[in-house]
Amino acid sequence: MNDPLRLTVLGAGYLGSTHAACMASLGFDVLGVDTDAEKVDQLNAGHLPIYEPGLTALLRSGLDSRRLAFTTSYPHAAAFGDVHFICAGTPPQPGSHHADLSQVNRCVAGLAPLLDRPCLVVGKSTVPVGTARRLAAELAEAGDGVELAWNPEFLREGSAVADALAPDRIVAGVMSPWAEGILRQVYARPIADGTPFFVTELETAELAKVAANAFLATKISFINAMAEVCEAVGGNVRALAQILGADSRIGSSYLRPGIGFGGGCLPKDIRAFIARAAELETDQALGFLREVDAINLRRRTRIADLACELADGNLADVPVCVLGAAFKPGSDDVRDSPALDVAQILHGMGARVTVYDPAALANARRACPELGYAATLAEAARHAYLVLLLTEWAEFAQLRPDDLDTLVAQRNIIDGRGVLDPAPWRAAGWNYRALGMALTPPPSTPLAARRSAKGGGQGASR
Ligand SMILES: NC(=O)c1ccc[n+]([C@@H]2O[C@H](COP(=O)([O-])OP(=O)(O)OC[C@H]3O[C@@H](n4cnc5c(N)ncnc54)[C@H](O)[C@@H]3O)[C@@H](O)[C@H]2O)c1
Repeated sequence: MNDPLRLTVLGAGYLGSTHAACMASLGFDVLGVDTDAEKVDQLNAGHLPIYEPGLTALLRSGLDSRRLAFTTSYPHAAAFGDVHFICAGTPPQPGSHHADLSQVNRCVAGLAPLLDRPCLVVGKSTVPVGTARRLAAELAEAGDGVELAWNPEFLREGSAVADALAPDRIVAGVMSPWAEGILRQVYARPIADGTPFFVTELETAELAKVAANAFLATKISFINAMAEVCEAVGGNVRALAQILGADSRIGSSYLRPGIGFGGGCLPKDIRAFIARAAELETDQALGFLREVDAINLRRRTRIADLACELADGNLADVPVCVLGAAFKPGSDDVRDSPALDVAQILHGMGARVTVYDPAALANARRACPELGYAATLAEAARHAYLVLLLTEWAEFAQLRPDDLDTLVAQRNIIDGRGVLDPAPWRAAGWNYRALGMALTPPPSTPLAARRSAKGGGQGASR
């Protein structure tokens, strides 16, 4: 083995490009490998195919220092690496909630026959429990001294660099003290900085990731379930969340009511966890996760229903401004984005939807070409009868009524993320609505009057 260790990263997508650039910044020589030749060329030219704060600078300094490079060549990777990280995607299988492991399987199948010296293969992708043990058996046949470990990744899009360099914890699922020693070398810096390092068997390491995601999803859906109750009884879920969060046993993070979670990880991971539990005949234990998913999806239709209510029951031809397309601020990722999903539902109800997002417009356009898009917030809001704030970017959370007063046709705003203070909006004559908040009846507007003259109504239920 080389000293320092030489690392490869198989799969240079969101996780892989972050891991590769971060490892290079820690002083390792790193070779990123991807089957997508265009992505490899882009990365070698210093261009990230994703929006992630701080990552472009890290990528470029890695390339400039020659500690970091990208290739499509597995033979180069096999010859180069002492430690091979698997960071390939694990999307849902088409038409099913089970994880599609074909990318991960191909990484192992591509690498194993080329390995001719001792090395550690380390899975970082999120996989169904039991996957690592199967891959370990495949790799054991590749040759003496080739071993598998599992080291799940907990980074969050939007803060990926900080999460990767200074994680809350590192989990090392290993089959030998040798593998543990290698991972301690790789993560020497964060360990020295005090990051807890947990050593487990392979299965616990795999579970650590999906269980963490299941817990976070449950916390979000719990407060959103409370929002449903608040709506029924006239309570205020924002106040309730603050009160619950002040309890140190509960904590306030992931307890903000709104339109719920999305993205490329949480939804698919909890569904794949449920599907895997059924295979293992432990589905009863995870039955509650089905409800977590259902509560989450209900928030999207509820907010569309609220929009419809504000348009007096009919959104046909109503100009609607949607603020946000990314599934969360700090990211351009629109995979299973609640904001974009709501925009599509409103479009399906006949609204003339215009979406603005500071980073995700290109991805949103590709994913939902049927929607209207604007290059600026002002352009999106101009002549709108209704504004929906659906991704809590800082520029939206800091909006004041007079930023929009003269642009919009009607002062209706739905705060889908619960980030605005209702008082100044209501004082400025806006009809401010949010999920799980005590409702004030919408004032009769020219639009409402027009609609009620026509009659009829709609609902977003699906
Ligand atoms: N995105 C996140 O925030 C995040 C966080 C933690 C864990 N994860 C997990 O990490 C894994 C990767 O997620 P992602 O978001 O980076 O996915 P992604 O789709 O952005 O990236 C996957 C990359 O792997 C490449 N690839 C596919 N097959 C390959 C092969 N045989 N050899 C080399 N490269 C190959 C693809 O071209 C793509 O660039 C998933 O299991 C995900 O659940 C993601």
